[in-house]
Amino acid sequence: MMTLSQMAVDVLTTADGREKTAKSRDYAAQWFAARKAGTPLPVGEATPPLRPSRPEKPELLNPRDVPKRKPGSPQGRLALIHAVAHIELNAVDLHWDIIPRFAHVKMPLGYYDDWVKAADEESKHFNLMCDCLEEMDSYYGALPAHAGMWRAAEDTVDDFMGRLAVVPMVLEARGLDVTPGMIALFEKAKSTSVVDALNTIYAEEVGHVAYGSKWFHFLCGRHDEDPKEAFHRLVRRYFKGALKPPFNDEKRAEAGLPPDFYWPLSEDTPNRTR
Ligand SMILES: [Fe+2]
Ligand SMILES: [Fe+2]
Repeated sequence: MMTLSQMAVDVLTTADGREKTAKSRDYAAQWFAARKAGTPLPVGEATPPLRPSRPEKPELLNPRDVPKRKPGSPQGRLALIHAVAHIELNAVDLHWDIIPRFAHVKMPLGYYDDWVKAADEESKHFNLMCDCLEEMDSYYGALPAHAGMWRAAEDTVDDFMGRLAVVPMVLEARGLDVTPGMIALFEKAKSTSVVDALNTIYAEEVGHVAYGSKWFHFLCGRHDEDPKEAFHRLVRRYFKGALKPPFNDEKRAEAGLPPDFYWPLSEDTPNRTR
């Protein structure tokens, strides 16, 4: 029988996207079946790779070198779906990585439930985006993608609270800010299957940000730290650049992220110290 950490490492070291997500969904089902039966799988310990395995394609380019396409054009919309597929695949790895990476820190079982569920949902999101690409006679790997998506994970490889602050509470929260605009763009183009897929993603991502906030607050409580101050300190340390408004205040609030967490880190705030 595999431990949860071994399952995570197996997902991380699988290169092909569809194969990675199939394993991810299968392991998630195994975890929840065992939980339901009252016989949870052991979390165990296993060493995750510094960087997850990725397919040969897409070619990974510096963001500056990724060709810009007009979002209103069919090519631009295809590139946007491709970019979202790339983000979702990265998210699958991020959610699995946090499990073995910090398995030495004792956490309640509900913590593992949350990240396994998030990883399962990201796997579904990647597959949905791939289905949309295939519907448009394309596929994941047909276009170049951003390099450096794993940067946040590498920077916080030894800092559990830093990882929670930067990944779910900054990067995934940013997804809540930009997704409504993307949905509007595809509604205008009457791309029903993309709109449906993005609505699923949008609804489920609120949960991922909420898990981040929940366990960040939990660890602050354990270490008797002020959550807002700890968040500001860690984001300033690990996240390069200011947070970009406009913020989706409503969905951020729903995810347990109040304005005094992110507004002071935004580029609109004068005299920010970094
Ligand atoms: Fe996602
Ligand atoms: Fe997510």
